[in-house]
Amino acid sequence: MFATTYRQRLTVQKKTGLFRNPPLIEKRDGVYVFIGGRKLLNFSSNDYLGLGDSQILREKTARNFLKYGSSASSSRLVSANYDIMQEAENRYARYFGYDEALFFQSGYQANLAIISTFFGTGDTVIFDKHIHASSIKGIMLSGCRFTGYNHGNMSHLEKRLLKSPQDKTAVLTESLFSMDGDIPDMAAIKKLKKRYLFLCVVDEAHAFGALGTGGRGLAGDIADIALGTFGKALGFFGAFALLPKGFKSYLLNFASPVIYSTSLPAAHAATALDILEIIENSDALRACLAKISRLIKTRLRNEGFTVYGDAHIVAIEIGNEQKTWEISNRLLEKGIFVFSARYPTVPMGKAILRLSMTAGHKPEDIDIFVERFKEVYRNVMVN
Ligand SMILES: Cc1ncc(COP(=O)(O)O)c(C=O)c1O
Repeated sequence: MFATTYRQRLTVQKKTGLFRNPPLIEKRDGVYVFIGGRKLLNFSSNDYLGLGDSQILREKTARNFLKYGSSASSSRLVSANYDIMQEAENRYARYFGYDEALFFQSGYQANLAIISTFFGTGDTVIFDKHIHASSIKGIMLSGCRFTGYNHGNMSHLEKRLLKSPQDKTAVLTESLFSMDGDIPDMAAIKKLKKRYLFLCVVDEAHAFGALGTGGRGLAGDIADIALGTFGKALGFFGAFALLPKGFKSYLLNFASPVIYSTSLPAAHAATALDILEIIENSDALRACLAKISRLIKTRLRNEGFTVYGDAHIVAIEIGNEQKTWEISNRLLEKGIFVFSARYPTVPMGKAILRLSMTAGHKPEDIDIFVERFKEVYRNVMVN
């Protein structure tokens, strides 16, 4: 019975161009991945600074796991509250300009925990309609009253704020949107915050490490709570919540995803400390990332494509789900690995090719992409 239902649903996914079947990757090497014995240029990795595949981080991580062991072997609240975790969390809080920090096993889990624990009955959460699925899940779990505002639309946000109780309202946004690649109007949010006194939660998953002074992201001015993930520019795994004073203890006492889950190991905290030092000294990599990201957008726009993105996430507008999927498949055959973002990752009928640029991409890689994309686009769109 269950199996039949699942088969039917998957058939519908295939018919509508929404089926997901990720290719098997044999290995990665910088900006390349190997699939079916072929070397492909990768534009689908969030390893923005190239640290996730770097020799320096491989060695540091290996050393830390040798020293501290492989597992925390219990939840944080039972027997895994290691002093090195406290130290790493304190250092992260200080570096990013917050009072406290708490590490999580993933950004998804962190968003779920933060939102579902801090907000509940009697609270109102107003969110940008393009925020990440994990934040949406957190809202659903929280039991709060919630309402979305149109993506990046500050006057719509204000309309929502006018109807919400001042001291019981939180606003959720991202600083660099994961699919659209755009940055909201931070100055406008700051003004609204002054006027309406809401609690501001900002997901900086795609900005920390890559954007802002010393990789400190874009929302230090407006966020009361921020979310960072290690799995993108920081080249590792896990995540961290940055918090006002007293909020960490609240999570340790009331957040189910923290209380009932095996903690990250101590070796993770040791590596997190190493990473912070690297991030602080990565201005050159951030400059490379900014430069190559500007170049690809200019090149694509010069060819007449509609391209979005204010930084290293580049969205090429395609629209139709089937055609977008076909374009990424044909590019795969031509040695290019690029993600086709389709519903429900993006709204229906608004499918995009989503490119993540990294500091390791070279201008020659852009040449290759633009030439092959032009050819594939022409072939797919005329048929
Ligand atoms: C905006 C945003 N927030 C949170 C997450 C989740 O982070 P993680 O990959 O560490 O679970 C992602 C990752 O896809 C993301 O794009």
